[in-house]
Amino acid sequence: MMAPAPGQIAVRHVGELKGSIDVPGAKNAVLKLMVATILADGTYELSNVPQIADVAIMSDLLEAIGITTDVPAPGRLRMTNTGDLVPIAPYEQVERIRASINVLGPLLTRCGHVRLSMPGGDDFGARPIDLHVAGLEAMGAVFKFSHGDVEASADRLHGADVTFSFPSVGATENVLTAAVFADGVTSIDNAAREPEVIDLCEMLVSMGADISGVGSSRLVVRGVPRGSLRAVAHRTVPDRIQAATYRAALGVAGGELTIREARPDHMHNVLARFRDMGMEIEPIPDGVHAVAASRLRSIDVQTLPYPGIATDYKPLMITMLSVAEGVGIVTENLYPGRFRYIEELMRLGADVRTNGHHAVVRGVPRLSGAPVKAHDIRAGAAMVVAGLAAEGETVISGVDHIDRGYDDLVGRLRSVGADITRC
Ligand code: EPU
Repeated sequence: MMAPAPGQIAVRHVGELKGSIDVPGAKNAVLKLMVATILADGTYELSNVPQIADVAIMSDLLEAIGITTDVPAPGRLRMTNTGDLVPIAPYEQVERIRASINVLGPLLTRCGHVRLSMPGGDDFGARPIDLHVAGLEAMGAVFKFSHGDVEASADRLHGADVTFSFPSVGATENVLTAAVFADGVTSIDNAAREPEVIDLCEMLVSMGADISGVGSSRLVVRGVPRGSLRAVAHRTVPDRIQAATYRAALGVAGGELTIREARPDHMHNVLARFRDMGMEIEPIPDGVHAVAASRLRSIDVQTLPYPGIATDYKPLMITMLSVAEGVGIVTENLYPGRFRYIEELMRLGADVRTNGHHAVVRGVPRLSGAPVKAHDIRAGAAMVVAGLAAEGETVISGVDHIDRGYDDLVGRLRSVGADITRC
């Protein structure tokens, strides 16, 4: 096999993992907390901030809008909003990060106008924004689409009853943040309930927003005057997807791990599925203790909005099923195109057939190491997990995708005995 090139990750199967891993803050929370600083002047202190590329990309976008950011210590982010904002998110910034769509609601409600480049799709499919637009239109926003940009204006938004046909995370967050300064009351029915949405609600409430129903599928926001919110310090919720990544690594390698800072109450269903596959998982005061003593058993899984099994867990679960005993059927209900990494898994010897949004995975005892590509963040992490289950060496390219969402995945896995290096 060719030697790994700079920037690639090389993984070898060595056997059991043992030790303790601290899970950092969640990417999909911290990016939205950063955007919430648009709403009020002052200096914010975010803690438990993962050291990932997407935080740096979002910092660049917010700097372009007029918010300064600095890192006083690892895991902390200080952000200052002086009120001098430019409500424009240019293409160069937006195309780098899908979460840039989250500036729509805050800039519109704070500045009365916003222009941003239309966010593109992902490697796993189109990512429309119709629900974001319909929700904000119901609150009085007027939209214009031209030259690849979306522009929205409203001198003052008004409260509205918004019912989503699907509990979109991003659309819930945009309507929620826009409603903070709207005249009157906004209700959001069929709202997303992900722990990261709750984290955003909690930060907004500590800033002075009036939100009830936090954590339920009906959020009610009573608008407060612009200028009545204040900057705060906030600790980012732990990353349930990174926690699942370390559990999946354990599942295929075997052994025993304490995964700290992972909140079992945010992972109820997914922990149950890992147990169904034969892992022992016990909640402990600051995380979970997990043991994988034997080969995993196959299960059927379908992805659903929270509290169902998140689509982001799916590449990990398909990887686990590919070396489990039996046959598992996986159904993707969120992103029909999110199966591309399966071709890479098959290069490692996995037996997977896809048909529409279903995948049938027949477990084989062991995969066989080969060069593979990371096509997106979660698919990249799944390739690393697959490498732990493969004879010989697996070399992963496209590692910049992994860096977008994983804080030192390689170092953390090495610390518990994995044979993994970043070249
Ligand atoms: N959708 C629409 N119209 C909309 C919005 C969404 O049809 O206006 C559809 C999407 O096409 C998709 C489904 O609704 O089929 C779910 O989309 P959602 O809006 O809930 O997702 P998102 O906010 O764009 C966040 C995470 C994703 C995660 C999804 C689902 C962030 C930055 N991203 O995306 O995370 O997969 O929720 O839980 O929070 C990742 O971290 O790698 C990642 C992709």
